[in-house]
Amino acid sequence: MNATKAKPATFLDTNFPVFTTEPHKVADLSAETVRFGRKELELALIEMPGLASLREEYKGKFPLKGAKIMGSLHMTIQTGVLIETLVELGAEIRWVSCNIFSTQDHAAAATVAGPEGTADDPKGVPVYAWKGETLSEYWWCTLQALNWEGGPNLILDDGGDATLLVHLGAEYENSGTIPSPDTATSDEHRIILKTLHAVREDKGDNFWRPMAANIRGVSEETTTGVMRLYERVEAETLLFPAINVNDSVTKSKFDNIYGCRHSLVDAIMRATDVLIAGKKALVCGFGDVGKGSIQSLQGQSARVSITEIDPICALQACMLGIDVVELDESVADFDIFVTSTGNKDIIRLEHMLKMKHNAIVCNIGHFDNEIDMAGVEDLVAKGECEKIEIKAQVHEFKFKNTTHGPNGKGHSIIVLAEGRLVNLGCATGHPSFVMSASFTNQTMAQIELHQNAEAYGKSVVVLPKHLDEKVARLHLDKFGAKLTTLSEDQASYIGVPQAGPYKGDAYRY
Ligand code: NAD
Ligand code: ADE
Repeated sequence: MNATKAKPATFLDTNFPVFTTEPHKVADLSAETVRFGRKELELALIEMPGLASLREEYKGKFPLKGAKIMGSLHMTIQTGVLIETLVELGAEIRWVSCNIFSTQDHAAAATVAGPEGTADDPKGVPVYAWKGETLSEYWWCTLQALNWEGGPNLILDDGGDATLLVHLGAEYENSGTIPSPDTATSDEHRIILKTLHAVREDKGDNFWRPMAANIRGVSEETTTGVMRLYERVEAETLLFPAINVNDSVTKSKFDNIYGCRHSLVDAIMRATDVLIAGKKALVCGFGDVGKGSIQSLQGQSARVSITEIDPICALQACMLGIDVVELDESVADFDIFVTSTGNKDIIRLEHMLKMKHNAIVCNIGHFDNEIDMAGVEDLVAKGECEKIEIKAQVHEFKFKNTTHGPNGKGHSIIVLAEGRLVNLGCATGHPSFVMSASFTNQTMAQIELHQNAEAYGKSVVVLPKHLDEKVARLHLDKFGAKLTTLSEDQASYIGVPQAGPYKGDAYRY
């Protein structure tokens, strides 16, 4: 008789079992990495007064008791402080990053160890994340964080990948077929379909539907994720209510603008050390992230221009003395390119072929399809372009058939973070203070969903304005800012309650 045991199935091209029994998976759980992460978590908390204040407000009350939150959001130090705040408020957590390059490994390690645990005796949270995941590893991590005894009952998402997997899984179980990976429209789509096939082989046809039924709601962090949610409302396919955290004023008008103002040039400098002053920089998209990106580059005295499709945003740029140009016509003029549209196919291969020698190309929008990385990788596969790794997340693409490089030969471009969001791929994202405002909104959204999810039906809502004002208020002391008190008489004259909210919903800040 053949006594050899069948090997357990592994997940796609990883060596991991489809479902692991490992309680966490991070790059380095050594004592030194945990110490470094813990020290940075402690420093960050001081810079995150919103989260510190919620910990104080809810001390001993545990408003998130019973919440089982699956989080998919960049596993940074700031996120570590968010996670530990949710835990202090009573939640159980499982966590992954929402980007293959954005994990800070010391943050992941310290979050696994937890404030009371150590590297040898971790007592924190199951985190499945490391910097430099492959796409298969990324979707494996997402699957592990969702695979929870009894299922998660809340999702905290950034970009909507966790929400997407649950929705597609449930939809294909209902229809009885998962499309073949051969029908995929991108590499990532292929991996998602393969993930769903792997789950069906392992768990059968009733894995996602009970999970989806158990999930009471999702709070979504970013513009692109929110867009995906509204598309689902329109198509009537949203399976649970969602809180749009992005459109709290204290999120999009702070994180997207001032966060990017800090973290865009941080990333370009860490990646390239190139002098930005005097260089011509083009930011594609002049929304919130574009506005922050422009300020970031202007802070270094770059000569900036933008592209826009929206006449209002274009006019705003004109009023600030910023040139509004068209990419096709001006691509050869710029030294630095930044995409920030949340749209696809912005910088295409035809543009890259015309760029100046050693132009720097990066994206600060959520997904990597703003720059045609598939197109340039295709040229590499055909031998028409050489891809040279300068260091992790910094690549030179040397075109062989152009003639405007050195000595009339091929030119190169320098691509950062392989076209993925550069501030988290090549730097450490936004600083703690800005993320405190975003994550105070996230925490309030999770509390609201845990207490009242069913009241919202299958809709997408923003938090009420008085909570937005509360988030801002919690951050004023740190600056020694003194608010003027509105008198009763004045309040009635301008028609607002004395204690706020001070603006109507139509006000745009
Ligand atoms: P936004 O809607 O405010 O801005 C996007 C702008 O791009 C809009 O003004 C739109 O008119 C413009 N646009 C769309 N298609 C265009 C095209 N073809 N050419 C030129 N302009 C075009 O969105 P936002 O809040 O600024 O977010 C932008 C992206 O950044 C999203 O993907 C969002 O999820 C992401 N984001 C990233 C970070 C980060 O830290 N990297 C932070 C917040 C948001
Ligand atoms: N998004 C932008 N910056 C971030 C950070 N530091 N942590 C988590 N998410 C982010």
